[in-house]
Amino acid sequence: CGIIGFTGQREASPILLEGLRRLEYRGYDSAGMVTGTGSSLHLRKKAGRIAELTKAVHTAPAPGTFGISHTRWATHGGATDQNAHPHFDATGTVAVVHNGVIENYLSLKHKLQAEGVTFHSDTDTEVLAHLIGRCYQGDLMDAVKQALGQVKGTYGLAAVSKTEPGVIVGARLGSPLVIGIGEDGHYLASDANALAGFADKVVYLNDRQICQIDQDAWVIRNQDLDTVDAAVQDIRHFLGEGESDKGDYPHHMLKEIYEQPETVANAMRGRLDDSDSTAHFGGLNLTAKQLRNIDRVVMTACGTSYHAGLVGEYLFEELARLPVEVEYASEFRYRNPPMDPRTILVAITQSGETADTLAAMREGKRMGHPALAICNAVGSTIAREADGGVYLHAGPEIGVASTKAFTSQSTVLTMLALYFGRTRHLSSLQGQRIIDELRALPDAIRKALGCHEQVKKIANRYAECNNFLYLGRQYLYPVALEGALKLKEISYIHAEGYPAAEMKHGPIALVDPHTPSVFLVPRGNVFDKVMSNMQEIKARRGPVIAVCSEGDREVATVADDMITVPDVPEYLQPIVTAIPLQLLAYEIAVLRGCDVDKPRNLAKSVTVE
Ligand code: G6P
Repeated sequence: CGIIGFTGQREASPILLEGLRRLEYRGYDSAGMVTGTGSSLHLRKKAGRIAELTKAVHTAPAPGTFGISHTRWATHGGATDQNAHPHFDATGTVAVVHNGVIENYLSLKHKLQAEGVTFHSDTDTEVLAHLIGRCYQGDLMDAVKQALGQVKGTYGLAAVSKTEPGVIVGARLGSPLVIGIGEDGHYLASDANALAGFADKVVYLNDRQICQIDQDAWVIRNQDLDTVDAAVQDIRHFLGEGESDKGDYPHHMLKEIYEQPETVANAMRGRLDDSDSTAHFGGLNLTAKQLRNIDRVVMTACGTSYHAGLVGEYLFEELARLPVEVEYASEFRYRNPPMDPRTILVAITQSGETADTLAAMREGKRMGHPALAICNAVGSTIAREADGGVYLHAGPEIGVASTKAFTSQSTVLTMLALYFGRTRHLSSLQGQRIIDELRALPDAIRKALGCHEQVKKIANRYAECNNFLYLGRQYLYPVALEGALKLKEISYIHAEGYPAAEMKHGPIALVDPHTPSVFLVPRGNVFDKVMSNMQEIKARRGPVIAVCSEGDREVATVADDMITVPDVPEYLQPIVTAIPLQLLAYEIAVLRGCDVDKPRNLAKSVTVE
């Protein structure tokens, strides 16, 4: 979900609509806003995309120079007009927008209903609105504080009251919130990206802090309502207005796929050092002693970032000889795994806001382990709370299905494995070879993008199929998972990623002439083994699409369709082979008429558990 609020000297609704448009990738089940004039609040809300809300606001303008707005990814209650935020208290005085989950909402709701309160939605947020309304005695901040004392759960919220025109109150626990300081007023947003071009300076809220903004001032307070000092940060250097435009591309996803030669180069820029044949990172913040002491790595992440972590497992084992475990963050946070003191935690996340990854990292830190973040969004919660980390520098990723973040994460993990390897057993010659190979990577990605026309043809041939298998071994097993995830996410086709040889222990039962298998089979140590697995599929009349090395003649003897990628060392194959799989998912989704950038039911950044 996304929040943006504004109070100042300009008409609020155009700012709110533009902010929502930029935040839409965070959730697009419904959208709404409330603006204020004098002592009136004007509510507009609609199920569906921001475009629906924009239409509603054009038909019935929402006047006023302050307001709050929201774009929703549904948790409690379907995607309907009623469940769209903002929600009001019973007297219509207070309006609230909210990200997160109020876990005890049902018991609070029953209590309020018993006291005669009528509910107009199925959301947990409406409980919050009623609670704030009931605590309200002319001081919104005080009412928000009191109401929050009764709730269990997570929130990033913004509230307004019709008796305090121009005032917006925000509060944060587990769901991000940032104040924007602009020339013509103040902003409150769930994501600094929404503020590009509006505000050059921001102040991030920490958990359990409450803030108030009006046209002239902002203040952040703690739970006791004492004022806290907060750092004002300049965001101009990492936000470029328009940077998140599609340019000439029909979709953000395609633009982001094509950006990968540059984004991977950006991930490496200034980090590879010939003088000592290793990688260097400005922000790792590990002492030489901590570094030497590390004997185990736990990586934690969700979705595509989890798949990058799996690539990292192979990389760290091979290049650094370090044992690695990769855990879904949502599992790790509730486990109690034995962790010895020499374990470090690596949280991998594009957005830096994924609730499960944040909670997993906090749990690791609580157990006393240094936590590193591999993160794209500068200034995000995970980036700020980690002990150290590495930014991807991939620029904003807007397409909900992650592409360039995956290749950048894999690149950073390769450099980290080199770095740890060089502090252990890798010779300078080996280190230098890896550096040279990494430097050639952007060009290899550029060449891999050359498969697009071929991928289009293949997409045409198979777009009607209802099941796909993605198969790879070793370094390419995580890529098989990622390829299947891409297809599922944006084309709604059932796809399974599997280790190519393991498929005979179950998934092979799915194979028939209408179930294509996408094989990752570039030249490498297990090439012959994967070829045999391919034969096993062919023997059962399953169509085979093979991603293989340029110039390979052997694969053609078995595969029905081939997509070629340039030859790179095996540890870089995950990055190069991911490209055709991203394109294949993209082209199939386009052919099936799916909304590529905003696939149904998904959101870019999931800030709830
Ligand atoms: C959501 C997105 C995925 C993403 C995952 C993890 O589910 O739809 O594309 O991989 O979150 O996000 P993160 O920002 O932590 O990498």
